[in-house]
Amino acid sequence: MTNRTPILSADEWDEVNFPRPTEQEFDRVVERAISRRGFLGGALAFGSGAAVMGTAFLKATPAEARQATRFAFEAIAAQTDGTVHVPAGYGWKTLVRWGDPLFSDAPAFDAASGIPTKGSDRVFGENTDGMEIFNIGGHEVLVVNSEYVNNKVNLAHLKDGKPVSADDVLRLQNFQGVSVMEIAEGKDGWKVVVDSRFNRRITHNTPMVLDGPAAGHDLLKTEADPTGMAVLGTLNNCGSGRTPWGTYLTCEENFNGYFGASAALPESAAVKAGYKRYGINEKGAGYNYHPFDARFDVSKNPNEPHRHGYVVEIDPARPDSKPVKHTALGRIKHENAAYALTNAGHVVVYMGDDERGEFIYKWVSREVFVPGGDTSTLLSDGQLFVARFNDDLTGEWVALTPEATGMSVAEIAIFTRTAGSKVGATTMDRPEWIAVNPRAAEAYCCLTNNSRRGTKTDAGKPRTNEGGDPMTLNAVNPRETNNYGQIVRWRPAGGDHGAAKFGWDLFVMAGNPTVHKDGPYAGSANINAGNLFNSPDGMVIDTAGIVWIQTDGEDSNKDEYAGMGNNQMLAGDPLTGEIRRFLTGPFGCEVTGLTWSSDRRTMFVGIQHPDAPFPDGPNSLPRSSIIAVKRDDNALVG
Ligand code: FEO
Ligand code: CA
Ligand code: CA
Repeated sequence: MTNRTPILSADEWDEVNFPRPTEQEFDRVVERAISRRGFLGGALAFGSGAAVMGTAFLKATPAEARQATRFAFEAIAAQTDGTVHVPAGYGWKTLVRWGDPLFSDAPAFDAASGIPTKGSDRVFGENTDGMEIFNIGGHEVLVVNSEYVNNKVNLAHLKDGKPVSADDVLRLQNFQGVSVMEIAEGKDGWKVVVDSRFNRRITHNTPMVLDGPAAGHDLLKTEADPTGMAVLGTLNNCGSGRTPWGTYLTCEENFNGYFGASAALPESAAVKAGYKRYGINEKGAGYNYHPFDARFDVSKNPNEPHRHGYVVEIDPARPDSKPVKHTALGRIKHENAAYALTNAGHVVVYMGDDERGEFIYKWVSREVFVPGGDTSTLLSDGQLFVARFNDDLTGEWVALTPEATGMSVAEIAIFTRTAGSKVGATTMDRPEWIAVNPRAAEAYCCLTNNSRRGTKTDAGKPRTNEGGDPMTLNAVNPRETNNYGQIVRWRPAGGDHGAAKFGWDLFVMAGNPTVHKDGPYAGSANINAGNLFNSPDGMVIDTAGIVWIQTDGEDSNKDEYAGMGNNQMLAGDPLTGEIRRFLTGPFGCEVTGLTWSSDRRTMFVGIQHPDAPFPDGPNSLPRSSIIAVKRDDNALVG
């Protein structure tokens, strides 16, 4: 198990609070964490200033804003239908759908079977997720993740969508990864510039480079790559990030699901422990690559999984450049990568590990960022930290060093979760996107949900993450069976993202006050019948400091979830705490991925895996799509 330090005192905390805390104690923790007074007091105490400038979205300056709303749009109602809704005064159009051509030699999309294998790497990938826009010499270049595939839709010739040939596997591999495409706005709105010199597909087979402390380590060597430094493909590309020098960061999340085994799993104790912690097993998640692509058969290539689970840097300005997997930033189920700069100019990357009871990380570069200087190795060397959230609303970043963990720097990079456990990191309710406020020294993380938080096994033991760290209640994860989720916010000491200490509060606890009249499941004070949602996931803060929250939750609109409707996007005000619903997606979808045109007059929003026949209507296949949202008066939207 873990080598816990007294500061986290998870075991002590567990002792005090186990069995379940009394109603009174529990309420006190929740109240302290979510009280409006704590929320505003925190802003003052940490001196963020939290200045939010007026834009099209904001009606008032901060001085006028304490009570009045600062959003310039009217909230929309929850919806359960099959299309997208936005507020009055706004409109949306489809930019691109899964299967749309990036090149003129791409095959046509077939209404029944989609896209054939030949040419499947010449179209926009499936299941759109994180995305960023780069303006390169006046060209708008959109870079987008395709997180996973729907086997059944893409392999319509097979009853259960389970690949039965290398050709089937290749088709699935080609629809995932990253799409790079130039887009341009014309009379009919935004379109993909087919055949632009920037257009590129990066798939599960694209050659890339491994760098950082784990590159070349024995655990990264395979028969096909005895150097341990050259890898094919980036897997399960979930959230995104960008660097101040104009490159894209794609984040490998549930990479474990692609692996399986045709024979016994490897015997090595270290490898076995890693497999357990990261969820690598004989069956995988059903992609069934391994019988037809030996790279994914861990009984033949036991080290291949160690080559995935990283943050990958892509240079959209150089279509021929090889993407780089940065092992320095750790191997976890990366959600996204949100950068900040320390006061001294070091690059900070905040990262969440999306699994029940996993951790939040911060990485700080060894060298400083110098605009116009050499940035090629900035993400190759630095220090990883993991977060401890104390119950008194303070926290610290604990350095993952060989001294603190008993692991080598390379081992820390490969088995990062284990390193986090060894220093007593706080188990979190599934960290999804992290967003840094450009207007204040603060960052936010969506803790989407955790149905097992505070619960016990059949044997009466507190549930743990896969590393054995207890998921007992604590102030930052204060609800047992947390089906709604919350957003935590931290402010680094001295307003410097390089600081080791921080203060934190909960920006919101999602809940349902129409079902639960009071108590923690009613949600925090900024939740009301007009802005109900669950499972915050995607999150980006715009140039004005508005927090855009996207959801990936239960959309049954029934019982605990009554009144929440389909997944959606809401806007939050860091100063007042107000949250307003801005957009609703078609039923069955997740709303994920958000970026803006360089002139900030268009907002691009990702609609992933709709069940509704979106966006083309009845009798069409549901297609993950990116939509462009604009104001009718073409004013700024972020
Ligand atoms: Fe791919 Fe955690 O979302
Ligand atoms: Ca997500
Ligand atoms: Ca999610």
